[in-house]
Amino acid sequence: PVTRQITFNLAPIQMAPDGYSRTLYAVNGQYPGPMIRCNKGDQLVITVKNELGVYTTVHWHGLFQLGTTWYDGVPGVSQCLIPHQSNFVYNFTTAGQSGTYWWHAHYMAQYLDGLLGALIIHDHEDPYLTAYDYEYVVTLTDWYHQSSSQLLSQFLTPGYNGSNVTAPSSDCKSNSELAVYKVTKGKKYRFRLINTSAQAAFIFSIDNHPMKVIEVDGIIVKSFEINRISMHVAQRYSVIIDANNDVKNYWIRATLSPECIPHSNTTINFNSAINYNVTAILSYDGADNKDPETNAFTDFVRPCRNLNNSLIKPYFESKLSDKIVDTSSYNVTFGTTANKVKAAFINNSSYVSDFNSPTDIKVITYDIDAKTLPTSQNIKEYDDSLYGGVAEIIVYNSNQANHPFHFHGRTFYLVGEGENGTKVDESTFNLVDPPIRDTTVVPAGGWTVIRFILNNPGIWVFHCHIEWHIELGMLIQTVESPKALQTLKVPDNVKALCSNYGT
Ligand code: C2O
Ligand code: CU
Repeated sequence: PVTRQITFNLAPIQMAPDGYSRTLYAVNGQYPGPMIRCNKGDQLVITVKNELGVYTTVHWHGLFQLGTTWYDGVPGVSQCLIPHQSNFVYNFTTAGQSGTYWWHAHYMAQYLDGLLGALIIHDHEDPYLTAYDYEYVVTLTDWYHQSSSQLLSQFLTPGYNGSNVTAPSSDCKSNSELAVYKVTKGKKYRFRLINTSAQAAFIFSIDNHPMKVIEVDGIIVKSFEINRISMHVAQRYSVIIDANNDVKNYWIRATLSPECIPHSNTTINFNSAINYNVTAILSYDGADNKDPETNAFTDFVRPCRNLNNSLIKPYFESKLSDKIVDTSSYNVTFGTTANKVKAAFINNSSYVSDFNSPTDIKVITYDIDAKTLPTSQNIKEYDDSLYGGVAEIIVYNSNQANHPFHFHGRTFYLVGEGENGTKVDESTFNLVDPPIRDTTVVPAGGWTVIRFILNNPGIWVFHCHIEWHIELGMLIQTVESPKALQTLKVPDNVKALCSNYGT
């Protein structure tokens, strides 16, 4: 393992990723931002230079941050905001993890404006290393012509009912080149797929090319073949395809499902302006310049939902103890606050960042030295005495949207999931070889049960990754082993960001 020094220069830039020119936030002049590649165990030292003109933070999605909870990037929870024209150095190890991850801004909805990129951790012991010749990294996303702050302010307007969001106008033409993925006949390719959307779930497929799934959210799995793969926000998959077809061009499809964009005020509704059929091209070396023929797979997959859980089996056995040291359950709903603003509630409490405006960074609630825990709403504490034990969380989803919930600082065992009803059916649990992942879709009107080992003292949020839903408050804070946390030494640069740290 080595230490990798990386610099991220964050600044606004004018760009036209889909042919429509707008201001977006770029990192080192790029959108999507630079990909980080490293080996398992490497130390990443990333200097974030903020020239955005606004505050920001960066989160390393899926990384455990073992012993470095303050580099997890959640403002008001694990760190203070990084002001304009200042630098902040994130410094953490990738020990114990490999696979496909990503990084993204975690303040407001800034990652929609471009602050995101892939983070790939290679592993010399990956059992599939010899099963493919080359690899591609594919980031899928929804893309908007308005800035995230415009979208959010419309969305959070009192009385908003989904009708007043301006749809992308007629200057939305498909005048940018499609992405082309070159392959050579006879070779095998690993595609690392990352859904970096604000709200869009995709169904990904490549015409005529079945995919062998080998990795799910950084966890290596027993391989299985599939033609279409359903991915919700923040989920990742690695698949291997065999370039054994005729030397031609083939459509790569990332299809948006209309069911994922319900016409309700829980989701931004762009109506007919949505391009439901996002495409790219898989092009064999030596193929002519013709457009691919249409030959789409039509296998049924559940839109906006997890890829069938029963297909996903971790490659390495890791059985979890059936002894549960803590169970908590959460009911997810939408409602309105007193001033008629739409809000998301988890057990009747809606998360509000503990700073009320971007300039108000004095109110930092996470303060290990002062021995204070985050204040206010939705805080779940796992006492030190539970360390090493298995905790369980049940999420009941009583509305008609599917919510891709992500846990920071850990992976979890997805032991059960139900389509409908308010009663968990334990007889359907998989306690033998459940999927292990960091983002799972809690079905509309249904429930999800996850279990995880308490082995990472820190402050970790658990939230729906649909960006509008986080902003509406669909987030809980968990504090794991607060006493152990207090014995950790908080780096000076973390303290320096907070004007009242330790007071
Ligand atoms: Cu991708 Cu709170 O995370
Ligand atoms: Cu949600």
